[in-house]
Amino acid sequence: MTVTALIVAAGSGSRMGGEMPKQYRAIAGKAVLAHAVDALASHPRVNAVRVVIGAGQEEMARAALGDRDVGDVIIGGAVRSDSVRAGLEAIGDGVVLVHDAARPFCPHDVIDRLLDTLERGDGAVPVLAVADTLARGVGQLDEIVERNRMVRVQTPQAFHVEDLRYAMEESGKRAATDESTLLVAAGLKVITVEGDPMLDKLTTTADWARAEKLQAARMTARTGIGFDVHAFAGEGPIMMGGVEVPHSKGLAGHSDADVVLHAITDALLGAAGEGDIGQHFPPSDPRWKGASSDRFLAHAASLIRARGGLIDHVDCTVICEAPKVGPHREAMRRRIAEILQLKPGQVSIKATTTERLGFTGRGEGVAAQAVATIRMSIE
Ligand code: CTP
Ligand code: MG
Repeated sequence: MTVTALIVAAGSGSRMGGEMPKQYRAIAGKAVLAHAVDALASHPRVNAVRVVIGAGQEEMARAALGDRDVGDVIIGGAVRSDSVRAGLEAIGDGVVLVHDAARPFCPHDVIDRLLDTLERGDGAVPVLAVADTLARGVGQLDEIVERNRMVRVQTPQAFHVEDLRYAMEESGKRAATDESTLLVAAGLKVITVEGDPMLDKLTTTADWARAEKLQAARMTARTGIGFDVHAFAGEGPIMMGGVEVPHSKGLAGHSDADVVLHAITDALLGAAGEGDIGQHFPPSDPRWKGASSDRFLAHAASLIRARGGLIDHVDCTVICEAPKVGPHREAMRRRIAEILQLKPGQVSIKATTTERLGFTGRGEGVAAQAVATIRMSIE
């Protein structure tokens, strides 16, 4: 049975306010919509993810989604049900998980519970018990509602596609805040499973602050290591740490032979578990011949940010007898910080000789070692 996740992101986020609808704004550098897509796409039982956006939101959606595999975006409508209806027209039969883009975090075990439970009903929804007293009345209480019989209904909601199509036809033009409402109104059986506070929807600015904290708590510190060597050849100057350093000898290399940027690039890739510089920029590829290494470094940083990661710090030790690094240290820190979109205080450059021992001691080349500290959550 094909399982399609249908993420509705066509709303305007009027209660949240702000310049951009909430689903396109970033939490820890990654759009809320992208968090939601990744949370569902990473589940092994989800076969495809499709996204419904509002007319005119194409640019924002493209920026938010990057190269995520969601097929063509689907254009939704004025009310939520219109958006879901448009999504249903674009997908095939099987099982659908209808999910709000405004719920960025979705634990995998909720999806497992939904799919397992759907076998026994027409729909399955995650719910949470209500902890506060529940009452009717605005300004003055009219009636206390018995809390024990109440639940909060979240998304994703699992349905057989044909049941949801039927319920939506039955409902006519009736607007609903979720799809389980329509199934219940059509007399279908919707079973509840345990939801998760992580799934709470971002509705107001207070929710935003909470989501930022939740995301921060999910991020773990990761360290990566990098090492690089280039041999002296020909005449200087050389590129080091993204700046030109005068030297009698040049450095041999396929690119601009910037050992510092190469070592830091590898450290960042290592911290992210994204392979190494040679994998991303093969020396055999003529595109990188003589390439300025700031592109490699910027690429490593963008990979981390696309996954919602944060770069906390990079540190590099240059190993050579000459040239002297000290006079160029601050310029290197500033340039590296600029490439990585960090503050110079988050970049450290150190240097040492090897007391004339080994290849660096004999002045045959330059080596560099780097470590990077990042924070990232694993989907
Ligand atoms: N949604 C949609 N199409 C609509 C309205 C809402 O796809 N016409 C989506 C929203 O993008 C959101 C989800 O439905 O992911 C839940 O809706 P809600 O939290 O109400 O979001 P908004 O409608 O954008 O916010 P508001 O009601 O504050 O304007
Ligand atoms: Mg709304």
